[in-house]
Amino acid sequence: MSQIILNANGAQMPALGFGTYRLRGETCARAVDAALRTGYRHIDTAAMYENEDAVGEGLRASAVRRDDVFVTTKVWTDSIGAGALERSAEASLKRLKLDRVDLLLIHWPNATIPLAESIAALNHALRLGYTRAIGVANFPSALLDEAVRLSEAPLAANQCEYHPLLDQSAVLTACRCHGVAFTSYCPLGRGDLTRDPSILAIAQRVGRAPSQVILRWHLQQPDVCAIPMSSNPAHIAQNFDVFDFSLTAQDMAALSALARPDGRMVNPGFAPRWDV
Ligand SMILES: NC(=O)c1ccc[n+]([C@@H]2O[C@H](COP(=O)([O-])OP(=O)(O)OC[C@H]3O[C@@H](n4cnc5c(N)ncnc54)[C@H](OP(=O)(O)O)[C@@H]3O)[C@@H](O)[C@H]2O)c1
Repeated sequence: MSQIILNANGAQMPALGFGTYRLRGETCARAVDAALRTGYRHIDTAAMYENEDAVGEGLRASAVRRDDVFVTTKVWTDSIGAGALERSAEASLKRLKLDRVDLLLIHWPNATIPLAESIAALNHALRLGYTRAIGVANFPSALLDEAVRLSEAPLAANQCEYHPLLDQSAVLTACRCHGVAFTSYCPLGRGDLTRDPSILAIAQRVGRAPSQVILRWHLQQPDVCAIPMSSNPAHIAQNFDVFDFSLTAQDMAALSALARPDGRMVNPGFAPRWDV
């Protein structure tokens, strides 16, 4: 079994990517370099992470060919109006020292800016050549339906929080209905789930690390991508070593059954109304 490549409405997106939130400076550059040397070919950053320069440094240090890496960045929610979105994307490219990214996402919806305006600006950034594909993040199902309806170009991905404690069935169904890949952020529950007793029990039985069991749970779901973050080289390698085993349907179901109403971990005041 090797890396899985998702067809995200035409974008070829490696299903296991590397998250970089909270990584900064040299630590970030070293982690991105280590991830690429390990075999990751999908790196996730954002203007808001203030690490695009370091991500670019890591990309160059690894010597992996630019065309072999899928790079995603995001436009922060206060900059998704007409003109501002395009300027944010251009500034991201300057910091990354790239001609274009592979995927440009709206980081969060913004109730004070008309969605039609944001989606038009996103499409404009695509036409300007700043990115190969466009998408959204933190869009619940109804808002995703609306964004798809408004967008001239197909949306490649909707990046949302997802892990065994959070039921995302409604968003997953909406994504599949539109051919949009679902990218799981906080796939390890920000690391907490690697210490969950139920997950530890499955991990012990299958002879794998808890993080590997959780990542298999993501990757065995159709059209789901996961972007775990780590600053630790051993974890970076461990999280990529997941292509030579699979979970049984029973273990998949047992992990999904851990979902609970208070399972959401990222819920800022400006968040949209979630499906659940
Ligand atoms: N679109 C959005 O609004 C949004 C929001 C949040 C995150 N994201 C993206 O999603 C990425 C992932 O989310 P996240 O970073 O919040 O959480 P995460 O990937 O679920 O968890 C990261 C944490 O898990 C630990 N960890 C990683 N591998 C491990 C292993 N094998 N064993 C034990 N612990 C391990 C890391 O610690 P060590 O460093 O010690 O390994 C780190 O503390 C982000 O980096 C970012 O790119 C997007």
